[in-house]
Amino acid sequence: MARSPMTGSLSVAVEEPQSQALVGSGPPVPHYLEQVYWWAYVHPNAVHVFERDWLVNAILFGNYGRLRDLALADLGSRVLGHTLQLACAYGNLTARLLQRLAPDAALDVVDILPIQLRNLASKLPVDKRLRLVHGDSAALACDDASYDQVLLFFLLHEQPLHVRSATLAQALRVVKPGGKVVIVDYHRPSRWHPMRSLMRLVFGKLEPYAIDLWQHEIADFIPAGVTPSSVSKCTYFGGLYQKLVLVR
Ligand SMILES: C[S@@+](CC[C@H](N)C(=O)[O-])C[C@H]1O[C@@H](n2cnc3c(N)ncnc32)[C@H](O)[C@@H]1O
Repeated sequence: MARSPMTGSLSVAVEEPQSQALVGSGPPVPHYLEQVYWWAYVHPNAVHVFERDWLVNAILFGNYGRLRDLALADLGSRVLGHTLQLACAYGNLTARLLQRLAPDAALDVVDILPIQLRNLASKLPVDKRLRLVHGDSAALACDDASYDQVLLFFLLHEQPLHVRSATLAQALRVVKPGGKVVIVDYHRPSRWHPMRSLMRLVFGKLEPYAIDLWQHEIADFIPAGVTPSSVSKCTYFGGLYQKLVLVR
């Protein structure tokens, strides 16, 4: 299958002989990652601390596997065509996605932090179908309608409003008509939810943009003039998590 046109000022840098090639000269680290999420993604020790399956699962109150599989289920048991994953994730989401990829399919993963792309490369086999791209989810260097499906796993709650809206607009721009944008992220839990107060505290202290997803529907962040043909939402774990599927 011909490669999707993720273009721009791209270059290929092979980090180590055994690792996946990183593509892209890439944008700088955005202010919100530097200021708010330095401890989780930017700091050189972040990967050593957070890249533990049990920790990723604990942060999601034991729901990691379920949410990962719900996201993957929407892409199909056999993932065909070109898939775009916006942002790396700790855990084995991408490895599981790669396992489902058809032999002639392709997967691009775009992240704004080379340290996260290198960490992802270290978790995956070298695979010609996979490309790791240093880029910005809010300004993708590829043509309209380049991908068959786009996956966003717990990315939007970490982005300030203008970046989140731009990311959604880009996801809907690069997916083909009829293609899916699959989003898994936080959602406002039910009033009685035992984790509600704890999560409010966590968001207040550590994740200041996440509360937006309690106060608004994700679809509210899609810029005017960008209209998916359908939007379907399911919530899980007492409403604390959601899966949203937008069809362009
Ligand atoms: C997907 S989110 C969080 C996922 C989840 N907490 C986990 O790791 O399981 C974290 C990633 O988003 C990336 N990221 C944040 N803003 C981005 C942007 N504008 N463009 C591309 N990647 C971005 C960060 O560099 C980080 O690797």
